[in-house]
Amino acid sequence: MNARKYLIAGNWKMNLNSAEGAELAAQVVSLFGQQTEVSVCVCPTFTALEAVSKVVNESNVQLGAQNMHFESSGAYTGEISPYMLRSLYCHFVILGHSERRAYFGETDAIINKKTRAALAASLTPIVCVGETIEERQAEKHMDVVRTQVQGSLAEIDAADLKKLVIAYEPVWAIGTGLTATPEQAQEMHAFIRSVLAGMANEDVAQSVRIQYGGSMKPSNAAELLAKPDIDGGLIGGAALEAKSFVELVRIAQQK
Ligand code: PGA
Repeated sequence: MNARKYLIAGNWKMNLNSAEGAELAAQVVSLFGQQTEVSVCVCPTFTALEAVSKVVNESNVQLGAQNMHFESSGAYTGEISPYMLRSLYCHFVILGHSERRAYFGETDAIINKKTRAALAASLTPIVCVGETIEERQAEKHMDVVRTQVQGSLAEIDAADLKKLVIAYEPVWAIGTGLTATPEQAQEMHAFIRSVLAGMANEDVAQSVRIQYGGSMKPSNAAELLAKPDIDGGLIGGAALEAKSFVELVRIAQQK
C-alpha cells in the first residue's frame, strides 16, 4: 500500500487571465473542495493568483505558482518573491520546469537556490526534471536526471527533502501528445528514488512524492497512476478544461 497521497496539479502555464482562472478554479472547488483522498492543486499565472486564491481559499484545493525568484525582496525588476506567494496563500511552487530551463536559462544551480528559498518560506517546491529526446536516444536519460536531481536538491537536509515534490517530465512528452509508457515512467521514478536514497536515506526516498508530467490525460492516466512509484501528475494541456482535469482527479480518487 502506497502511503503517499496522489497529487494532481494543473500547470496552466501562460494561459487564462484572472477571470478565466477564477471560473475554472470555481468548477474544481465545487467538485473537489471538500474531499481529502487526493491532493488537488491549480497553478495559475502570477496575475491570476490573487483571484484564484480567493476562490480556493477555505477549500481543500491548493494554490501553486509556476516560478519565483530566490531573494525575498530587492532590486529584481519583473520578479516575484517567495514571501509574495505566501501572502497570497500559495502552498506549492513549480520550480525548474523544462520550459524555464530551455527558454529562460535556468540551471540546476539557480533551481537549487530557488528550492532552498521556497522551503525557507514554507512553500512546497515541485521540482521538475526530465531528459530531451536526444538524451534518451543516446541512452543518457538516467545520467541527465541524476545530475538534475542532485544539482537541484543539493545541500538540502533530509527533513526538508521529505517535504518536496519532484515532477518527472520527459521534455519530449510535454505538450506533444507523446507520453512516456508506464514502464518508462516507472523505471525513471524508481531510479529517482534510488538517487534520493543515495543523497539522504531510504525514508526520504519513500516519502517524496514523484509526479509524472508530459501529455498526461484521462486516456492514459489510469495506467500511469497504477505504477507503484508514480504519485500523481503535473498536467498542462488537460488542466485547462474542467472536464479533463476533473476526470483526472476522479481517476486518482479511484486508485
Ligand atoms: P502537458 O504539460 O500536460 O501539456 O504535456 C505538462 C507540463 O509541462 O507540466
